[in-house]
Amino acid sequence: MNRSPRRRVLAATLSAASAVLVASGAVLLSAGNANAATTLGASAAATGRYFGTAVAAYKLSDSVYSTILNREFDMVTPENEMKWDATEPSQNSFSYTSGDQIVSQAQSHNQRVRGHALAWHSQQPGWAQSLSGTALRSAMTNHITNVATHYKGKIYSWDVVNEAFADGTSGARRSSNLQNTGNDWIEVAFRTARAADPAAKLCYNDYNTDGINAKSTAVYNMVSDFKTRGVPIDCVGFQGHFNSASPVTSDIQQNLARFAALGVDVQITELDIAGSGTAQATSYSSVVKACLAVARCNGITVWGIRDSDSWRASDTPLLFDNSGNKKASYTAALDALNSGGTTNPTTSVPTTSPTTVLPSTSNPTTSPPATAGCSATVSLNQWSGGFVATIKVTAGSAKINGWTVGVTLPSGAAVTNSWNTTASGSSGAVSFANVSYNGSVNAAASTEFGFQGTGVGPSATPTCTAR
Ligand code: G3I
Repeated sequence: MNRSPRRRVLAATLSAASAVLVASGAVLLSAGNANAATTLGASAAATGRYFGTAVAAYKLSDSVYSTILNREFDMVTPENEMKWDATEPSQNSFSYTSGDQIVSQAQSHNQRVRGHALAWHSQQPGWAQSLSGTALRSAMTNHITNVATHYKGKIYSWDVVNEAFADGTSGARRSSNLQNTGNDWIEVAFRTARAADPAAKLCYNDYNTDGINAKSTAVYNMVSDFKTRGVPIDCVGFQGHFNSASPVTSDIQQNLARFAALGVDVQITELDIAGSGTAQATSYSSVVKACLAVARCNGITVWGIRDSDSWRASDTPLLFDNSGNKKASYTAALDALNSGGTTNPTTSVPTTSPTTVLPSTSNPTTSPPATAGCSATVSLNQWSGGFVATIKVTAGSAKINGWTVGVTLPSGAAVTNSWNTTASGSSGAVSFANVSYNGSVNAAASTEFGFQGTGVGPSATPTCTAR
């Protein structure tokens, strides 16, 4: 991306987050500050979300870096190691050493991985830059198939296509060698990724799309079209590189919400905010609260750990200073996370309704009755011969410390792999228990796990038992 036009002083005033929430009619869940979590990952998890960071493989041996990484974050995005130039330096010759290193360290610390990025106009190897037409299109699909297959089962979500739209007001696609292969290159990339790894959530990712503007509307129209035509897209990433030229604006929440209403998850994927002190802290708080106010905003990733790790270190845009100390922005982000999140009854309908605490200006007659324990809903992606089931576990009116979900599979169906859970059994009545990092769920908050199988997936509402 182009850095120069984006450097302006951050807007000094930001809309009060509470006003944004009330204006949007968002439903706030009970915050439970008595049990406030003390790390970003744990606090986000209590709202059913993740908090991640970009990671550079060569920094993993730095103990200050890895200590913060493993204490604070539960999702990692390889900053450069899974890009085309890194994974296929020579055509059809693949190199996974650095990417594998990040995946392996993530798995050993119960962190999930956001793959980044399968198809992008930038950071292409030299041999791809010199291709065009059908040769480039074939090279792209071959690349996606190989990389997504190599990491199959290890990736929570893939940035399948990155930064394909132009800046400015045109609403046009960015001109690039990939775009020159035909306007359908993006949907071909998504279909190719789905075929290679059906369990990974497939995302479109871009910058300067955080608020409502011509570029984000162009992406919105593409996602709407994809959903209408059945192109497999599950999520949209909003990078969140903020500075004076692209300040945090008050319409981020509304922008996330309009994408979510299309039926995709939304995530803040590369958050960094130029600045310092209270102004930067306020901006971090606003972005976190915007995500928390949208039920399908299920995660936030910052683009690096310490300021010195940033691709634009001189802007001091991150949550830890060069020595690894927590900045005011860290505290603001953590406090915002601990203020609680939302669930969306239109996208997840538990069998028992969660307790909600409505803003004082909202109508309390819409508040459903309190119920302890937990409930679960299933969302099924079925194709001929197989399926992926995503299960959402929602706590009732009290915090739970563990859960077991019971699912009955139709005759002939079998579980082949699962994530964020420990499965018992593979056919008939199968039970799924929490793992170490997702058993604790605050009152009315949610967490997700999933499994892949052969045959026909479960359609009945799962049972949920809380501990
Ligand atoms: O690894 C080489 C090293 O061998 C060489 O000596 C050195 C000389 O410049 O370059 C090193 O590679 C650099 C690489 O980062 C690793 O540090 C590249 O030059 C440099 O271009 C690359 O920058 C990355 C940039 O993407 C490339 O576009 C940044 O680290 C990375 O943070 C940044 O991330 C992007 C996202 O992928 C997409 N969204 C925007 C975001 C920020 O630009």
